[in-house]
Amino acid sequence: MSVSASSITVGDKNVELPVKSGTIGPNVVDIGKLYGQTGAFTFDPGFTSTASCESSITYIDGDEGVLLYRGYPIEQLAEQGDFLETAYLMLFGELPTPAQKADFDYRVTRHTMVHDQMNRFFQGFRRDAHPMAIMVACVGALSAFYHDSTDISDENQRMIASLRMIAKMPTLAAMAYKYSIGQPFVYPKNDLDYTSNFLRMCFAVPCEEFQVNPIYARALDKIFILHADHEQNASTSTVRLAGSSGANPFACIAAGIACLWGPAHGGANEAALKMLMEIGTPDNVAKYVAKAKDKNDPFRLMGFGHRVYKNYDPRARIMQKTTHEVLKELNIKDDLLEVAVQLEKIALEDEYFIEKKLYPNIDFYSGITLKALGFPTSMFTVLFAVARTTGWIAQWAEMIQDPAQKIGRPRQLYVGPAQREYVAIGQRD
Ligand code: SDX
Repeated sequence: MSVSASSITVGDKNVELPVKSGTIGPNVVDIGKLYGQTGAFTFDPGFTSTASCESSITYIDGDEGVLLYRGYPIEQLAEQGDFLETAYLMLFGELPTPAQKADFDYRVTRHTMVHDQMNRFFQGFRRDAHPMAIMVACVGALSAFYHDSTDISDENQRMIASLRMIAKMPTLAAMAYKYSIGQPFVYPKNDLDYTSNFLRMCFAVPCEEFQVNPIYARALDKIFILHADHEQNASTSTVRLAGSSGANPFACIAAGIACLWGPAHGGANEAALKMLMEIGTPDNVAKYVAKAKDKNDPFRLMGFGHRVYKNYDPRARIMQKTTHEVLKELNIKDDLLEVAVQLEKIALEDEYFIEKKLYPNIDFYSGITLKALGFPTSMFTVLFAVARTTGWIAQWAEMIQDPAQKIGRPRQLYVGPAQREYVAIGQRD
């Protein structure tokens, strides 16, 4: 990593700030000593120009629409690999050998069951509780059951906690879905692969044998790969910040799930499908595009725009292709796909979207595929969380092992009242 220098003058103080460069991508100006040497903070609400850490996991080039997991293009991983291979790559930094992959699959598979007393948590929820609320609660509660993997200073415990998190997310997600539809929980089966196991836990019933449709399994596995990690997005930054205090990994992932739920982030896939349903037909598209452009209208095109991608989200391209493939293979005609295609066409030709570089993101098409696979909209962000747990855990582990790591504690620009004297209540008018 090469280091050069930049200088900044604040008031009557001029300081040299080291500039660091990584393997690829923008350089960073290390401002760690700025406050100590100038008495001034930097100011960057939303962190639009701020790098929070060094990381080797995911690289995004927003202008070129490039996404690499440990250097491998997302297109190649999604087309040629499976989700647990991506999970292994995230955790260990290299693609697994056949023996390593078999061992990793075996170890994850044998952590898919949850403590049976966790079933009782569900009885406390209303049946119509949003499954993301259930996931936040139950994932946080895992730390009450797995005390033998909460010591973050112990490498072995960190690895067991990581495997448990990746393995148990599908089980809890399926339980949340089953609870919402009043069906009994289905236990995982060790002879199924990760995604097939999840589909069976979601859609099997005790009354009959259930065969996983390989088209469904392949499509969902690809969707999981696309959602696995995405650099320092809001929920990953939440996991890192929670982890920087030494909180246990289950609590950190629960914090990440809470953040992902927001409609500006992972909740956009649920919001995007609801938007397409509200638009209803291609004829209504122009009206909604006009609403999205109207400064006085809070409506935004859900599934459009991105903080980093100022070009087409490469995941959206793969998602769009997968959506067409799945609907064709399942012989499903969904008018919402036509609405989405028309909406994309009109938006991408519109000066507003061109000027603001707003393109479809991963959430624009994913909902149509998930709906075709049989999931209700309320489960869409849960599926995002299942996949993103791999990235969250890998980023959390990287942070824990980073020698530069310390508790995250940003400062502020204070704009409140200057010091003033207390007035007794009897003297206040
Ligand atoms: C994810 O960070 C990640 O990597 C996230 C993610 C991941 O994998 O972790 O990629 C997953 O969260 C994808 C994004 C899903 N969210 C949505 O689809 C919700 C709709 N999109 C927007 O809310 C918005 O685009 C964000 C939140 C995604 C990005 O917001 P930014 O970067 O803060 O950009 P901005 O809000 O400042 O918008 C820039 C301009 C604004 O106009 P001006 O105020 O400059 O005039 O573009 C406009 C916005 O009003 N704009 C939109 C728009 N998105 C931005 N206008 C209409 N429709 C939209 N969707």
